[in-house]
Amino acid sequence: MPRSRTGKRMTRHARAVAAPRVVNIEDMRRLARRRLPDAVFDYLDGGAEGEFTLRENCRAFEALTLRPRNAIAVPECDLRTTVLGDQLAFPALLAPVGYSRMMHPQGEVAAARGAGAAGTAYILSTISGHKLEDVRAATSGPLWYQLYLIGGREASEAALERARLAGFSALAVTIDTGTAGMRERDVRNGTAQLMSGNLFGMIPFLSQFFSRPGWVASFLLDGGIHKLPNVIIPGSGPMALIDVAAALATSVVTWKDFEWLRKAWPGPIVVKGVLTGEDARRSIDAGAAGLIVSNHGGRQLDSVSATLRALPEIVKAVNGQIEVLMDGGIRRGSDIVKAICMGARAVLVGRAYAYGLGAAGEAGVHRSIEILRADLLRTMKLLGCTSIAELNESCVNVPKDWLT
Ligand SMILES: Cc1cc2nc3c(=O)[nH]c(=O)nc-3n(C[C@H](O)[C@H](O)[C@H](O)COP(=O)(O)O)c2cc1C
Repeated sequence: MPRSRTGKRMTRHARAVAAPRVVNIEDMRRLARRRLPDAVFDYLDGGAEGEFTLRENCRAFEALTLRPRNAIAVPECDLRTTVLGDQLAFPALLAPVGYSRMMHPQGEVAAARGAGAAGTAYILSTISGHKLEDVRAATSGPLWYQLYLIGGREASEAALERARLAGFSALAVTIDTGTAGMRERDVRNGTAQLMSGNLFGMIPFLSQFFSRPGWVASFLLDGGIHKLPNVIIPGSGPMALIDVAAALATSVVTWKDFEWLRKAWPGPIVVKGVLTGEDARRSIDAGAAGLIVSNHGGRQLDSVSATLRALPEIVKAVNGQIEVLMDGGIRRGSDIVKAICMGARAVLVGRAYAYGLGAAGEAGVHRSIEILRADLLRTMKLLGCTSIAELNESCVNVPKDWLT
């Protein structure tokens, strides 16, 4: 039986993601779709409402073309960058993906290991199925904690203190979830019923599970849906996953909260979910060390612009005062290059690694990152760039109507 890089026997799914014909993230997406029931695959793959923004995030990368410098030998290429003082081997961090444990029992632990092995950072969602201490123990790489205020300030302070003690280095505060987005696929597939752990409620949706026995077995062996071990409500214990949607609507983060947050979290704070120059300025005023241009991967307000399109306005508004990261739609190394050329210091990838997780757990996360890394390296060499620091607007043709 084939063995993995750690010498362990490879599962059927791990062998599938390692196959030479798995050449890009779309291939990984297909493998995830084959292993996951619709309620889980579409939770990961889908977006809000008509999914306009979800599609636009990817389309925007296609609208930007590259300007290579040819007849230049690039035998070595330096992919390193620095984000909030941490040196990363690769300019893509792994984005917070809520309840990754539903995609694979190893969930957030596998994602953290994948990031650590690639020399980059993992951002753990508040909606994690694993304890933040267990995620910390899985890797020596940089970890950030992503905060939703669900459960209120007291519950959040307790989580932040645990994250600080465990050695998480930065806090990402997500500001684009004033209420949960309307994900139509989730309604059709019974995702909420699955998350509620109520078998009776799942009856109308059961047929999707018959063809996914592998996922069902691993899900049941893992004990089904777990309560959220990092959201401990004073007096009542860990929050149930099904309660998150309602809690989001009653615990919106506002700019006023940042004063309290700066006291509750001594390290750097990064605002996640900025789409306008105005909110970028507010992030600076709120004392943030960085911001993430993000529309939550098209899962919240549909019809907002692609993040790549929003990026120039924000880079201009920030004027170098804080670090600007971006996410949304990154599926190839050339997308990472384009985002950096447009002024992002680094990017976050969400679905690109989560498809790998859904396809084969940790082996899939490693493979997704490997694909992106190899892609990035090749793109840089073909562009004639020897380091990430060399990427700038001169390496891309920017459509005229994008310029601010
Ligand atoms: C299944 C899923 C769950 C997510 N959960 C969270 C979350 O808990 N917190 C958060 O700030 N963002 C969350 N996001 C948004 C990602 O952090 C990121 O902004 C987005 O996935 C980037 O777009 P991409 O998937 O096209 O790379 C989630 C995204 C997905 C796909």
